[in-house]
Amino acid sequence: MTFGRVLLPLWPLDPEATYLNHGTVGVVPVRVAEAQQVLRARIELHPARFILRDLWRFTGAASDDPTLMRQAAAEVAAFVGARADDLVFIDNTSAGVNAVLRSMRVEPGDEFVITDHIYGGLLTAVNYVARTSGAVVRVVEMPYPACDPIVCVERIASALTDRTTLVIVDHIAAESAVVFPVADIVRACHARGVQVLVDGAHVPGQLDLDVSAIGADYYVANLHKWAMAPRSSAFMVVAPERQASVHPAVISWGLDSGFTQEFDWVGTRDPTPWLCAPDGIRFLESLDYDALRQYNHELAWHAAQYLTDQWGTPLEIDESMVGCMVSVMTPESVGTAKADAVRLRDRLLFEHNIEVQAHARSGRVWVRVSAQAYNDRDDIRKLGQAVKAT
Ligand SMILES: Cc1ncc(COP(=O)(O)O)c(C=O)c1O
Repeated sequence: MTFGRVLLPLWPLDPEATYLNHGTVGVVPVRVAEAQQVLRARIELHPARFILRDLWRFTGAASDDPTLMRQAAAEVAAFVGARADDLVFIDNTSAGVNAVLRSMRVEPGDEFVITDHIYGGLLTAVNYVARTSGAVVRVVEMPYPACDPIVCVERIASALTDRTTLVIVDHIAAESAVVFPVADIVRACHARGVQVLVDGAHVPGQLDLDVSAIGADYYVANLHKWAMAPRSSAFMVVAPERQASVHPAVISWGLDSGFTQEFDWVGTRDPTPWLCAPDGIRFLESLDYDALRQYNHELAWHAAQYLTDQWGTPLEIDESMVGCMVSVMTPESVGTAKADAVRLRDRLLFEHNIEVQAHARSGRVWVRVSAQAYNDRDDIRKLGQAVKAT
């Protein structure tokens, strides 16, 4: 399989642009978008029949055949290493994390343990639940950029107390892009009887995922980032013993009818992002999924080495903590604060037609490079030069 710019026509991206930001909102392949259009046309032939009989149906309806939602869930479950009965579709990772947080019975003084790498939108959700319940949010500082997995586990374990209700940890962090040792973190928390939610927003399509082996109480992830599904497509796997107490943020007909039935219907929505998730998986497989992940990882690691060399900045993260995205420190002249990161991001786009994520951390501006099948070393070279020119 040949990767790089030659594959760009498989996505609808502007060929003039250098797109190094697959991670932020994903890019839907042409083939998957076409499958979604075909499905939408099929739905409109007989919308009520499709949505109320084929897609989802009330318990006790005439047919016992699996609904289309359940058939798609089974395909996604096989891809991510979960049981289909433990997996439900949600709009996005934010919806899944909100469902868990807002289902929990939290008493004043209970504690949520999070890390300083948590995604900003989820930090807002945790703070909101703490504010309305009287719970406390403890933020664990993870070792970074030199990030020893053993120290990561120790830091979380030592933050646990008798009041810890839930630990939330990233599998791949949003800004730093660090791959955290989530299976070990889950083991350490379970040894203390503490529940764990893993935010795997960036993982399906980027790492070889085995949700069951991780063993978290809740594993929430997007399919619309690296797994090539249309937006809004995400899933949540909940351990069987937790399912009765987790409810969607929107309560509807399925309440008290069982976990999957409850999440499969939360009002009328466009179901095509979930039903086309298997098309995204098949697209990944058509590119040779193992070779694709290998190529993307090697390109991300090349970006880390090449850009730090070009910019004269340190490379402290170990390759083993990197998936298909990497965050690289820019030169000090770029600035130190969030406003400098926003300025860099926009100058790269509007002056150089380069789309890349930029953020401030530890008093410096970093760019997070996403490496995807359509990228190659020339894109990394262009980024290196453009940052030097800003
Ligand atoms: C680590 C992480 N968690 C959660 C999210 C939120 O994803 P969504 O906007 O699909 O809910 C993101 C978005 O980029 C993310 O990077």
